[in-house]
Amino acid sequence: MQRPEGEGMKILTVVGARPNFMKAAPIIAAINAHNEGIVAKSAGPQEARIGIIRHILVHTGQHYDEVMSGSFFNDLNLPKPDIHLGVGSGSHASQTSEIMKKFEEVLLSERPDVVVVVGDVNSTLACALDTSKISFDSDGSRPLIAHVEAGLRSFDSSMPEEVNRIVTDHVSDLLFVTEESGLRNLRNEGLSADKIHFVGNTMIDSLLHFREKAEASTILEKLGLTGQAGTNGGAKSATRYALLTLHRPSNVDNRDVFGNIIAGLEELAADCPVVFPVHPRTQRRIREFGFEFSFGTNGTQPPTNSHGSAMIVTDPLGYLDFLCLMKHAKLVVTDSGGIQEETTILGIPCVTVRENTERPVTVNSGTNTIAGTKTDAIKNAIRRQLDLKTGNGVPKNWDGRAGARIIDILVRRHYDVASFRPSPISNNVLLEDGCACR
Ligand code: UD1
Repeated sequence: MQRPEGEGMKILTVVGARPNFMKAAPIIAAINAHNEGIVAKSAGPQEARIGIIRHILVHTGQHYDEVMSGSFFNDLNLPKPDIHLGVGSGSHASQTSEIMKKFEEVLLSERPDVVVVVGDVNSTLACALDTSKISFDSDGSRPLIAHVEAGLRSFDSSMPEEVNRIVTDHVSDLLFVTEESGLRNLRNEGLSADKIHFVGNTMIDSLLHFREKAEASTILEKLGLTGQAGTNGGAKSATRYALLTLHRPSNVDNRDVFGNIIAGLEELAADCPVVFPVHPRTQRRIREFGFEFSFGTNGTQPPTNSHGSAMIVTDPLGYLDFLCLMKHAKLVVTDSGGIQEETTILGIPCVTVRENTERPVTVNSGTNTIAGTKTDAIKNAIRRQLDLKTGNGVPKNWDGRAGARIIDILVRRHYDVASFRPSPISNNVLLEDGCACR
């Protein structure tokens, strides 16, 4: 695609749902750092213009509440979105198609050189698919598609995210991989080696950048969790507590499965307070299934239920508050993907209440264990993890520089290939060490 004379690359980044924000923030920070470097090195504004990256942030509006979206922009110092599609909730088909219709118009008016999509939510899929089929001129030129967090596979196609990941990877031109399993998976699916870059994990870039700032959060005080000896080397002193998140449809939409998980947590809740910031989907199911008795009502005082256990139930929390709670927790129980990674870096034992993980490095190198969703298996995993002394280390390239690596690759790719024409997806089988690993 030909740019007007004298203008630099234009990158459009898509965010839509809560886990996208912390993955996109380091990419935007790296663009800003790149631009500052260009300005410092250039003789004048005219010269700088060629090298400066112009950036457009698009929010699809898949998540829209202050607690699911707005607060993350403040916490992560994200700029206000340039374009907000305001799509909101809906079935998979209606949400995905609504995003596609609106994002196509954005592509045609903005004509970016690169579209960056992150993670595996419906917004990721919708915008990648749109970009793969757009045509800016009679030659069929279109933006490059860069997928951040490519290659993760749970091998469970009943997960909407698994479908989103596979399709997004197969229409993308640049695959930015977070862990070695991703390289293997993409290789096994026959994706071309020259598309694949092992850059590390932008979600961990955010964690490393904000972990000190999270210490200023007052969430421990608000929830009455301060007072005893410090944990995890932090400056704060926290009481012994566990942290819980549950939001996967497969866990909370089915009454029996959800009930089994609650039963698996009773022993833990009798042992120490369990802080439970509740996702809107889960809040709805708790009411619908009449499970309020297990969780008490929303408030800051731990309610004691009929089993004598204590659950501290809150609305969803912002990034810094949640990070502070993770840092000081004795144990985290979750069905989230990202939290398995974050606890790995923080060295906090994690029990994943799912049958699988698309992030095996968190089990092999980290502090995570996959418990499944049966009551006894959850209880056993919690007992084992409460005794865990330490993880095995830091996964390769989780060093806080993934965003910078991505921008470096995009810049070099842009100036090497002035006009990109999509080619059919390659069926090249990668050589054993043929990935463009950096
Ligand atoms: C989505 C992602 C999932 C991710 C999760 C993080 C897909 C397919 N799923 O799931 O991968 O782990 O986000 O939260 O993209 N709602 C609100 N306020 C909001 C957003 C949603 O109340 O700001 C409620 C709505 O009732 C909605 C429900 O939550 O129907 C579920 O939201 P949705 O975006 O459809 O899926 P998530 O379960 O959040």
